[in-house]
Amino acid sequence: MRIVVTRRIPEAAVETLRQAGEVWMSDADRALEPGELAEAVDGAAAIVSMIHDRIDGSVADAAGPGLCVVANVAVGYDNVDVAALAERGVLVTNTPGVLTDATADLAFGLLLALTRRIAEGDRLLRARRPWSFHLGFMLGSGLRGKTLGIIGLGQIGQAMAWRAKAFGMQIVYSGRSRSAAEAELGARFVAQEELLTTADVVSLHCPLTPETRHLIDSAALSAMKPSAVLVNTTRGPVVDEGALADALTRGEIAGAALDVFEREPEVEPRLLELDTVVLTPHLGSATVETRTAMAQLAARNVAAVLGGEVPPNPVRQ
Ligand code: DGY
Repeated sequence: MRIVVTRRIPEAAVETLRQAGEVWMSDADRALEPGELAEAVDGAAAIVSMIHDRIDGSVADAAGPGLCVVANVAVGYDNVDVAALAERGVLVTNTPGVLTDATADLAFGLLLALTRRIAEGDRLLRARRPWSFHLGFMLGSGLRGKTLGIIGLGQIGQAMAWRAKAFGMQIVYSGRSRSAAEAELGARFVAQEELLTTADVVSLHCPLTPETRHLIDSAALSAMKPSAVLVNTTRGPVVDEGALADALTRGEIAGAALDVFEREPEVEPRLLELDTVVLTPHLGSATVETRTAMAQLAARNVAAVLGGEVPPNPVRQ
């Protein structure tokens, strides 16, 4: 059975896939173009896909009737048209759980980098600009006693909340109500309007869906406190990037820390000019341990489906 892997993955995961079928893995140092993808998947029983691959009905048709499973190496699967694949009898799997801590670590790291001006200080020194210690030099703001507003208290949102608690923050959240987590964390469920108007930090942890696209638009940004900051480690299109650049330029919010972008790998050029913005190139899950675990989990999902078993992480249609 032919297994197509659209971009290089760790060898341990390739080994798992080899037990299940004949593996073809792209060795290009870039995402496959749509035409290349369609050609590569011809005859595939399984596709191991990445977040930059658009996997829709046409890709499934290019693979042919033998396609059984698309294993996305990510927890998010907004790049996959799950309904179109279901119509063709193709199962979709993802990799939840294994990237929770890595992503929350990065989100909290970005928050600290922003509020304590770490990236800005690093830029100042590298630019060899003169400086001297004094009591008013490069002051940031502390987190203790501040309110973190989490939009989407799923696994990663909860991991972010635990980190924030350790830093003495209060937690409010919106999205789906999660009473068990709420009680453990001492978090308070609020309407999104209240979250936006009261939080000192708004951190996004909801998946990208038609309902959450541009959830943070100009109205949401102007509802936030002028002293508040936004952290986005979920998916770029949850934020209207143009509206964010406007809000930051006008001082409607104090800053933003972004790991994801609306048109990756492009970044809205105005964001690059602002010292009130910290940027990383979609590094949420980028640790050796996590990426290895994600690839392994995707490979186990493929092996299960091709072996006629229920995979560990089927995506609900
Ligand atoms: C995910 O898993 O959805 C991340 O964005 C990529 O690691």
